[in-house]
Amino acid sequence: MPSKHRFLLATWTFSGIGTSSSFIKPPGIPIRTVSPPRPLLLLYSSSSESPNKRGHKRRGASEARGDECLLIPVANPNFDSNATSLSGVPYARVISGIDALYPPYELSNRNAISRTDGYWKYVARGELPQSEFTYGEFDIDFFGILLDKSWEHYLDGMSDRGRQHEGSELSPWKNKTFCDIGSGAGRLVLCAAALHPAWKLCRGLEILDGLHNMSKSIADRCVVNDDEECGVIDGDSRHVLRILPANSDAIPCASEHLPLAPIELTCGSFTNPYEYLGDIDCAFVFSSCMKPDLVEELSVAIGRQCKPGTIIITTEFPLYLKGNIEPLADDESMPHGHYELQLLEKINGFCWLLGGESTAYIHRVITSLWEEYSGPRKPPQSSLEEEAFKLVQLMEKGELTDTNAFLRRVRNDMIFHDLPQEFLPDIE
Ligand SMILES: C[S@@+](CC[C@H](N)C(=O)[O-])C[C@H]1O[C@@H](n2cnc3c(N)ncnc32)[C@H](O)[C@@H]1O
Repeated sequence: MPSKHRFLLATWTFSGIGTSSSFIKPPGIPIRTVSPPRPLLLLYSSSSESPNKRGHKRRGASEARGDECLLIPVANPNFDSNATSLSGVPYARVISGIDALYPPYELSNRNAISRTDGYWKYVARGELPQSEFTYGEFDIDFFGILLDKSWEHYLDGMSDRGRQHEGSELSPWKNKTFCDIGSGAGRLVLCAAALHPAWKLCRGLEILDGLHNMSKSIADRCVVNDDEECGVIDGDSRHVLRILPANSDAIPCASEHLPLAPIELTCGSFTNPYEYLGDIDCAFVFSSCMKPDLVEELSVAIGRQCKPGTIIITTEFPLYLKGNIEPLADDESMPHGHYELQLLEKINGFCWLLGGESTAYIHRVITSLWEEYSGPRKPPQSSLEEEAFKLVQLMEKGELTDTNAFLRRVRNDMIFHDLPQEFLPDIE
């Protein structure tokens, strides 16, 4: 394929990702650039030998797939190879371990899995694919910087009493819970767990089950076997990040691993009010592909469930800082009311997928319905008859105003649950 076509195909592949002027820029927020922007860096290659910027030879990739186009991530040219996280973990070691689990030359495969679940099903039925299902991977070094900055903000938000209460527990993110909301193949969940091994838990929440399944099998590869000589592992964690020695295919020896905080991966959607978010202390959302409606739904989910003080990082789009959460029609016990978030900082950093630069927004939850939500909840169980009755009531009252929108939601749900084509309702 001519290189020009490869470039166009690459651009099209990620056309859902990109900065947009459709959000309102909040005033008075200092912008910091942690690394200078770079030009568009979507690289395609069919060469099997040239190493990428992290020194990975793309061996096997083109041998396996002939002249197929490959997306090759590009490392931050300003990356400081001696940098460590606030917990003292060298970024370079984390990147090396993560690249071994998520080879950069296989990004196209991971992207293809997300398309199977979240893209082609729409295209095949002549519907507009949802841009929010576009899979991409955020840069580890910028992500690490954001976690460190968020820890400083988290501490600032703690009262003196809270600090005294935590006492010696006050090392970075110790005993706190992280969640990557929209965790894809779980890469950032493992990164967070490696950069700060003292987390109580690193969680991932992903809507697409193909990617979720992939994340589970990759995390399983980090589990320490009983007979494995991997040195002493801290705390309760059963996971380690194994680091391959440079230029070697050897099985990693005892010292070549990083401890990982405990990991939990869930398949679900933050738009489901019963998907629990109330345990989170810091969340990251690679929201660059989300439309304003979905960013609003994300803000509502956070305002409904996250405790005051929780730090939320988003990319390209800030959250809606204030709002009123409406009652839930089918569940009177679901809390409703006002929420408020504070935008703390806006930071630009390197992200190859966005053409060199991404803008991240760090928020703090100020007021929420966390207390009323009070722990994980289950949806009220109603029988099929009750569900049908409610629908008929709505239709009779003329409150099921947009039957097409309703049917489209039902249809999309059915598609996601892989129901046979003949069950799908026709929609205009
Ligand atoms: C750009 S990818 C980010 C993957 C990963 N966080 C990373 O940076 O490497 C965004 C992910 O969010 C997922 N997603 C979109 N809407 C979601 C929702 N409502 N609930 C959970 N995940 C969602 C998509 O399926 C996709 O895997």
